[in-house]
Amino acid sequence: MKKISLTFTILLIGLQAFSAAKADVAPVLPEPSIGLSSSELLIVALLLFGVAVLFAAIVILNALKVMIKERMNPTPFVKYQEPEPLDYVEWVKLKKSRPNIWTKILSLRPLEEEESIIIPHSYDGIQELNNPIPRWFNVLFYGTMIFAGCYLYYYHIGNGPKQDEEYLTEMEKAAADKKAFLAVAAEKFDENSVKIDASLVANGKAVFMANCIACHGEHGQGIVGPNLTDEFWLHGGSINDVFKTVKYGVPEKGMASWEKNLSSKNIAEVVNFIMSLQSSKPANAKSPQGEKYEPKSVKDSVNNETIAKN
Ligand code: HEC
Repeated sequence: MKKISLTFTILLIGLQAFSAAKADVAPVLPEPSIGLSSSELLIVALLLFGVAVLFAAIVILNALKVMIKERMNPTPFVKYQEPEPLDYVEWVKLKKSRPNIWTKILSLRPLEEEESIIIPHSYDGIQELNNPIPRWFNVLFYGTMIFAGCYLYYYHIGNGPKQDEEYLTEMEKAAADKKAFLAVAAEKFDENSVKIDASLVANGKAVFMANCIACHGEHGQGIVGPNLTDEFWLHGGSINDVFKTVKYGVPEKGMASWEKNLSSKNIAEVVNFIMSLQSSKPANAKSPQGEKYEPKSVKDSVNNETIAKN
């Protein structure tokens, strides 16, 4: 017994220490977003509490009333009587008269009771029933009215965002999204979209120094790998071809695929750096390999075609 109480005390102390530690690092919560200050919130909470107390008081009062009434004149004790067994026809009738889900939803009265809800007028012998409107429908109906009132107050009288303000914030958000999208898109290069861009050369040099000089030499003059400064290329000398070679590599000849280790932007940079090395004639250059590449832009060839046609 003593042991148990000891463990309890230890537990309690631990708990207290824990809660104290927690209170120390309590995160700073943002202000409640409904625009109520803490004292106003307190008032609302007190009001709600008051309503709850009132409700409880009414319930207790009613219970007391029933109890006193039973005391004064108790309901006589009735002996339980077995219900008489129904025959089939009666059972079917009872079953039919029981409301199903559909009649419950629409709160329809059973056919037998319709007489009581006939409206006492008739037009050309046609009479109407006064079917009550289901409660859920009324709740919905009045709910929309209350909602409309709140909406009107919040957006047109209170400090809800006005339509033009909402428009402006959305436009701002869209502009930010567009900027982010364009920034991401600008980072993406592939062998079709890559272009000569002098601004990429500086970064390209860094990429080249870090990854490529072991085989291509510090000046691209070629060691194990071919000379990258001449006009002779094994795999094509347009920037798109070079991009492709670097991206996919020539694994069977010892040139790795760099797709996995370099981002497409890095590849575009290093390719631009290689292009900038053209005819730089470094010392100890490796002798040319492959075919001579003669630059011609797509535009030129299109022009030539049209000229030839004319
Ligand atoms: C392990 C050595 C090695 C490394 C590292 C290396 N390469 Fe290569 N590279 C080669 C070899 C070998 C070839 C020739 C492939 C062939 O014979 O088809 C080559 C070919 C190339 C070609 C094609 C040349 C042509 O004539 O068509 C380019 C462009 C190229 N490398 C760029 C790079 C770049 C950029 C890097 C660094 C990111 C790099 N290489 C790193 C070995 C290497």
